[in-house]
Amino acid sequence: MSATFSIQPMGRFAGQSQPVKRPKEFACFSYDENHEFRLDDSSIKYYYTPQIGVDLSKGFNTFQKLDDSKDEHLDSLLKTIMAHEKETGKKIDANVVTWRGMMTKIMIALFEQQDGFEMNATLYQDCIFIEEHNEYKMKSRAKENHRGPRRGPPLEVMQYWGYKFETLSTLPNTWAETSREYIENRENQIVNNKEQYCSVVRTGIGKTVLCLGGEVDAIWDSKPQPGQPINWVELKTSAEIRSAHDMDNFHRKLMKFWVQSFLLGVPKIIVGFRTRDGILVDVNEMETQNIPYTVNSRPGAKWNADMCVNFAGEFLEFLQTTINDEGVWRIRRLPASPTIDVFRVEETGHGNIIPDEFKNWRIKL
Ligand code: A3P
Ligand code: MG
Ligand code: MG
Repeated sequence: MSATFSIQPMGRFAGQSQPVKRPKEFACFSYDENHEFRLDDSSIKYYYTPQIGVDLSKGFNTFQKLDDSKDEHLDSLLKTIMAHEKETGKKIDANVVTWRGMMTKIMIALFEQQDGFEMNATLYQDCIFIEEHNEYKMKSRAKENHRGPRRGPPLEVMQYWGYKFETLSTLPNTWAETSREYIENRENQIVNNKEQYCSVVRTGIGKTVLCLGGEVDAIWDSKPQPGQPINWVELKTSAEIRSAHDMDNFHRKLMKFWVQSFLLGVPKIIVGFRTRDGILVDVNEMETQNIPYTVNSRPGAKWNADMCVNFAGEFLEFLQTTINDEGVWRIRRLPASPTIDVFRVEETGHGNIIPDEFKNWRIKL
């Protein structure tokens, strides 16, 4: 059994955007500094303006780096959903449950020509659960690391810059609870990306109700009463803009920034601009909701937010008509392919997508 969703012609996704729901956090979890799961908000970070002029490579040799080669499936997300359901005594009402990262790949597929992706999906109790296909992720990473000689710093160091910027821009407690010494010495803090705060939201695109889990980098102030919008902050680094060409690249990057933040309802993005060798030279605040206008106001815009939404809305509907029986399904886009293909790879069961613990709970409910 298989079905194909055409990305081309893309003109059919133009026009007013399908309705979207404002993402609402209904649960959260943390990974501590050893990447141990915790059902709380203990790893939340507070934004505090970083110092300019810092070398983002500093401390690379002491980086506490997460080994993300291990397949974590949807485990933490489903644990958190289960805890929420135990509390409320009822099932969440989502049509699709997945990580924010998977939904990002789908939403940018219309304008992202090169990248491919592979996901596994299964239908369980009227809801589609989607995980990343770990083997594919590891294979594409290996390819990227062996893509011949390149100029500039090693890829691992460049990747470290992003995490270093997070450490430079955040506090583990509110400003009032933090010592001046800590604030002034953030440059010397050990960078650890095993520690994360993840928000679990209910949101909607078109006719589909989604439950998404994803990391949020920081909060502007502190958490409000439940149900109120949260002043999340997404942190990003980017090469400083020195030419029209740099600006084109930055505007293209804004698509990922926007989609990622839109999906979890993160209202503000802080961009740290760096030199080509990783010196932080400027910090800029952007409002997520303004990004589509900023991009459209420049001639020759390479993407359009409404079209991303319409594409995602239609693809999600296609997914729900296609994945209509048990088993494990593969969602695959080959690099540069004009289609997304969905086909069954296991006829029965749910693979490793849904842990027994979750099934046992749902059977009881
Ligand atoms: P930058 O985005 O500043 O480069 P996120 O921005 O999603 O919170 O991710 C934090 C950092 O993780 C990124 O910082 C980058 O360093 C690294 N990162 C995220 N996604 C990545 C990917 N697909 N490949 C390599 N590094 C990635
Ligand atoms: Mg992050
Ligand atoms: Mg970030």
